[in-house]
Amino acid sequence: MIDMMKIQKDMPLLEHYMYLNTAAASAMPQPVVDEMTSYLQKQASIGPYLPSFRQETYEQVEKIREKAALFIGAEQEEIAFVPNGSMAINYVSGGLQWEQGDEVIVLDTEMLSNYVPWLALQQQGVHLKVLKTNADYLVDLQALEQLITPQTRLIAFAHMSNASGALQPAKEICQFAQQHNVLTLINANQTVGLTPLHVKELGCDFLVACGRKWLRGPEGSGILYVRKALVSTLTPLMIGWGSTQWDYQNNTYSFLETAKRFEPGCPIIPSILGLGAAIDYTNAIGIHHIYERVKQLTNYLLKQLETIPGIVLYGPQNSDYRLSITPFNIEGLSPDDITNYLAQHGVIIEAGTFMANTIMERNHIQKMARFSPHYFNTFEEIDTAISLMKKFKEFSKGKAQDSY
Ligand SMILES: Cc1ncc(COP(=O)(O)O)c(C=O)c1O
Repeated sequence: MIDMMKIQKDMPLLEHYMYLNTAAASAMPQPVVDEMTSYLQKQASIGPYLPSFRQETYEQVEKIREKAALFIGAEQEEIAFVPNGSMAINYVSGGLQWEQGDEVIVLDTEMLSNYVPWLALQQQGVHLKVLKTNADYLVDLQALEQLITPQTRLIAFAHMSNASGALQPAKEICQFAQQHNVLTLINANQTVGLTPLHVKELGCDFLVACGRKWLRGPEGSGILYVRKALVSTLTPLMIGWGSTQWDYQNNTYSFLETAKRFEPGCPIIPSILGLGAAIDYTNAIGIHHIYERVKQLTNYLLKQLETIPGIVLYGPQNSDYRLSITPFNIEGLSPDDITNYLAQHGVIIEAGTFMANTIMERNHIQKMARFSPHYFNTFEEIDTAISLMKKFKEFSKGKAQDSY
């Protein structure tokens, strides 16, 4: 059971807003903020380099690495701290040794950050193939098989798209890829902290996730998982202390044999500490409880949205494949106006293309509005948002409106 009273008490934002936009970024719970401020305050009063404090800080960073690894079923040596998901994707796309004629497969539902880094490999003679997802926005293994050739090196896919809300059958995709000798990168930006997830069970080779969304960690936090056997095959894009060994006598260098090779220079300590506290906070609630609650909220949200005249829902037709992220439009209203109206009444959602332009094109629209409730949201908040939207629809009747 989720202790909603405690969760809401830990969330000062709720005094001002109903927040239904975790797919963009969540609000940090108070213990995460406290962890970071207590470090910063200590740092301000004793300085960052008091030897015992610095040692304690670095030890803590390594404990958080262990915690992050455990959280996704990995080993400590397989985890690098990164500032965001985009950079983690770049570490893989830019670090693998590509050969002319290699192929990479992505889905037709990816947002910019998991599309363009692969497209950029064209300069090295790598061919990007785009897999058309099915009517439920899901990967069809038969369609995938048709795209795979002996030149296919890797498939990169969002575990859950930020603009469709379709949760991919990640394990099936990874197993299928493995059978065809194809590497897999799971972009778990929209699922770490929301769904139970275990990299060894999924069988992926790489996984990336930011901390600021479903984990409710700080901006500037994230993780890159690289399967142990592949760490040494991935050349870091950047070089610096902490990740690189310098043999100055022979004028040579080498990278660490662990994923720490992707962390050149001074770690972003406050965000790593915040990430650690966010994982603790998630663990205290329990990832299975989180998943179950969000599933219930999603089903309720879908039912309530369907009561709005002129509602158009995007994403999987079968709601079993949906989780939280619920994109929509309302006939005759612009998604920006809906979002602004809700914000004026203290309800935060988001409108836009979400940089997933192919999903806009597929639906013949310019933009969409999007709900993305998390475990701290309530059924009553959904009711409030729905009745506000009905009121706005009524209020806008007969007025000229931008559409979508
Ligand atoms: C599905 C998906 N992939 C990648 C990204 C980019 O991640 P980041 O902003 O952490 O670089 C986002 C961010 O919104 C996302 O939703």
